Amino acid sequence: MQRPTIFVLNGPNLNTLGTRRPEIYGAETLADVEARVRRRADAAGFGIEFFQSNHEGELVEKIQQARRDAVGIVINPAAYTHTSVAIHDALEYAETPTVEVHISNVHAREPFRRHSYVSPLAKAVIAGAGTLGYEFAIEWLADHLRLQHTA
Ligand code: DQA
Repeated sequence: MQRPTIFVLNGPNLNTLGTRRPEIYGAETLADVEARVRRRADAAGFGIEFFQSNHEGELVEKIQQARRDAVGIVINPAAYTHTSVAIHDALEYAETPTVEVHISNVHAREPFRRHSYVSPLAKAVIAGAGTLGYEFAIEWLADHLRLQHTA
């Protein structure tokens, strides 16, 4: 039987993780993060689909697909967090429990990073926990989805 799938989505420039400003984003690559998240999801009984894009429309399409194919979404929309009404609208359409993740503490940085178009649609928001935030998000979703099933 196929396991329920959580989509783990990453926005622009996160493909450069490991080389981009490591003092802020850490030394791990996105492939390292993917391996850790996959292990964590596996242990919780979920499959994951990992997707990164530098293009807003591709992220929108993936989020739309979540409505049908995912039980949960973990998303780091990166810079689109602060600009994208299209991603906001896609998440509204997806009607899928969503956790918003930021590696850095966006509230302790430039003022333009404090506003998120995604947070109003997220069940939980994790910022500043480094790449561990992705694992916390999986853990939270696993718990949330289990509770939903027993309710
Ligand atoms: C980020 C924070 C955003 O402000 C920034 O544009 C990113 C990464 C984070 O993970 O801390 O690209 O989402």
